[in-house]
Amino acid sequence: MSVPLVFDGKVVIVTGAGGGLGREYALAFGVRGASVVVNDLGGDIKGGGKSSNAADKVVEEIKAKGGKAVANYDSVEDGEKLIQTALDAFGRIDIVVNNAGILRDRSFGRTSDLDWDLIHRVHLRGSFMVTRAAWNHMKKQKFGRIIMTSSAAGIYGNFGQANYSAAKLGLLGLANTLAIEGQKYNIHCNTIAPTAGSRLTETVMPPVLCESLKAEYVAPLVLWLSHDQCQENGGLFEVGAGWIGKLRWERSQGRIVRKKNQGMFPETVRDQWDNICDFTNATKPANINESVATLVEVLSRVETDEGIAPNPTSAMATAASGISPLEAVGQKLPESTFSYSQTQCILYALGVGMSTKDDDHLKFLYEGHEDFSCLPTFGVIPSQAAMMDGGLGSVPGLNFDFTRLLHGEQYLELFKPLPTSGTLTSQARIADVLDKGSGAVILLDVHTYSGKELLCYNQYSLFIVGAGGFGGKRTSDKAMSTVTHPNRTPDAVMTDTTTRDQAALYRLSGDWNPLHIDPSFAAMGGFKSPILHGLCSFGFAARHVLKQYANNDASRFKSIKVRFVKPVLPGQSLQTEMWKEGNRIHIQCKVKESGAVVLSGAYVDLHAAADGSPQILPEAGGLKSELVFAEIGRRIKDLGAEMVKKVNAVFGWEITKGGDIAAQWTIDLKTGAGALHKGPYSGKTDVTITVSDGDFMEVVQGKLNPQKAFFAGKLKVRGNIMLSQKLEVILKDYAKL
Ligand code: NAI
Repeated sequence: MSVPLVFDGKVVIVTGAGGGLGREYALAFGVRGASVVVNDLGGDIKGGGKSSNAADKVVEEIKAKGGKAVANYDSVEDGEKLIQTALDAFGRIDIVVNNAGILRDRSFGRTSDLDWDLIHRVHLRGSFMVTRAAWNHMKKQKFGRIIMTSSAAGIYGNFGQANYSAAKLGLLGLANTLAIEGQKYNIHCNTIAPTAGSRLTETVMPPVLCESLKAEYVAPLVLWLSHDQCQENGGLFEVGAGWIGKLRWERSQGRIVRKKNQGMFPETVRDQWDNICDFTNATKPANINESVATLVEVLSRVETDEGIAPNPTSAMATAASGISPLEAVGQKLPESTFSYSQTQCILYALGVGMSTKDDDHLKFLYEGHEDFSCLPTFGVIPSQAAMMDGGLGSVPGLNFDFTRLLHGEQYLELFKPLPTSGTLTSQARIADVLDKGSGAVILLDVHTYSGKELLCYNQYSLFIVGAGGFGGKRTSDKAMSTVTHPNRTPDAVMTDTTTRDQAALYRLSGDWNPLHIDPSFAAMGGFKSPILHGLCSFGFAARHVLKQYANNDASRFKSIKVRFVKPVLPGQSLQTEMWKEGNRIHIQCKVKESGAVVLSGAYVDLHAAADGSPQILPEAGGLKSELVFAEIGRRIKDLGAEMVKKVNAVFGWEITKGGDIAAQWTIDLKTGAGALHKGPYSGKTDVTITVSDGDFMEVVQGKLNPQKAFFAGKLKVRGNIMLSQKLEVILKDYAKL
């Protein structure tokens, strides 16, 4: 569903907006409701001259399209004056797009002081001056969006642009820190490196390219990064030709080239050079803490390698827990092979609660079925074999007590539907090791192949109780993260009872841990009775989503992520709550009897249906329209005030099923910021529409024309019939739902 991005009430300054990219941004902001300060000094490309023409023309263009704009002709070096123009004309400043720029290209040896200084004054100092002048206003109002304009020349270097490259990458450094300082005030700062034809590039680009790389292919990114919905902060983007990519740092694993009490020598650096520069298993440090954490760890490693009693610092913890990320990360487990036939697929399906009671489960239980399929979550089974056979315990740097290992989280992604039989190979590797204080987390990545073809990827997040405190980092960019579900009642709920023998059945798929079958073993682990496998609940949850939103079509499954929170006992009922957000289905799983959450932060991503329309299946006995009303409720929350202005009416709905009224809804787009009520409405509605659940879905999916439905008697209208024309505002986007 596409809700337009508007900037009503927002005030934006675009520097250097008299031409090129800046003009395009200013026009785009103008038509989307922002009040625009069009700044431009109006000089030549080398920074000489001055004129008000450029800015005035753009202001006129914005006004001609019905927008609000004022001009400012100061140099960005006078940042305060620019911001004052915004305050005088519009009373506030919300968005600063630092775009003004000049070029003074020279090969480095010929770069004069003036060439260097002018470039720095306009690009780096100018952006600083304008942004600083806006900063406190943004802080006070707890909102601000700042764009810095860098350049590929800064990121990669470019012959003849030493002055420009230095200033342009300086802007990225500035943005990195502003992103950190501004975060808590909702001030976000992002950097773009655009490419577009303009007077700056026409001297270096062939005319055809200059013409094709339009400035309008850059502006949408600037608008999105400037919008209050956009939570991106501290990002760097290359943009041009209608393409946008994000950049980040990569760092090699590196090598320690020093030994305790032995000094450090250039010869060791030389001898280790290839290793130092080897990007295999490179990391992507995201902040300065991760950088410092590495150094702290190195200090402790140097100590312990020497076998000398460590200091009472993190080094002590390293020695005690025997966890050393530097050694462990990147280590591979031996490759494993897993052969299976249709029997294993069926056994697994039974293990995660599929039953012939349900007609549409048959395709997972009967090899003679025309659509016989393997359940997507079977993808964990071969990868698990890799872990069990592979001896996690023999990985250097991972010396810990295996009885303290808990399965914390699981991520599974399929690249193809799983075959119903075959021989697969799995490669497992330690992706990262984290220090969570109370424990260590090992991220184990397992890639499973059929021949050379990658079938699926699993990430195990294994928690080792008591093994933390070794001074390692807390988070990792390698981690497939959990996601909080939306804050509303679930869109759908599905419940299934596990049988007393669910664990006994599930373990036959390959998880032989006695904890799930042997009472005395379970007692040793502190459980009253054997517990269900976390991955069994995971299988239940995934198939609930597959049934609810993908018509049990295994090819629609893309990925799943869950966090295991609490154990489930065989015989308890599993209740999967689901929230649909596009192709992502957020899920939470509870034990129905106790209400305890057992899987959290979870989601399933689906591929869109082949015909583009997602399946909307009702909860057993429920109404399909429930989902649509839930979505309408969300939209009213976001855009209610705007809809109230456009519609100004209260709509009553009577949804019928089998001839009876099965649900009543009221969409109030008259009072306050609008609201959705379920159940009979106490107030007066302006118009009431009665329609069956099925016909309602046809209408919202664009399959049934509402006028035709009315004349055919399928849709009855009481009250002010003219108002039903305004239904479009509420329903029009649902054709794409
Ligand atoms: P442009 O020359 O069309 O626009 C720059 C504008 O800034 C001009 O209208 C100029 O009068 C104004 N300006 C110059 N000095 C100023 C000052 N001191 N105060 C106020 N305004 C001043 O160039 P273009 O291509 O639109 O560039 C916009 C920004 O994008 C620049 O920062 C440039 O370095 C950057 N950029 C552009 C690329 C491209 O492919 N066009 C590539 C990489 C970066």
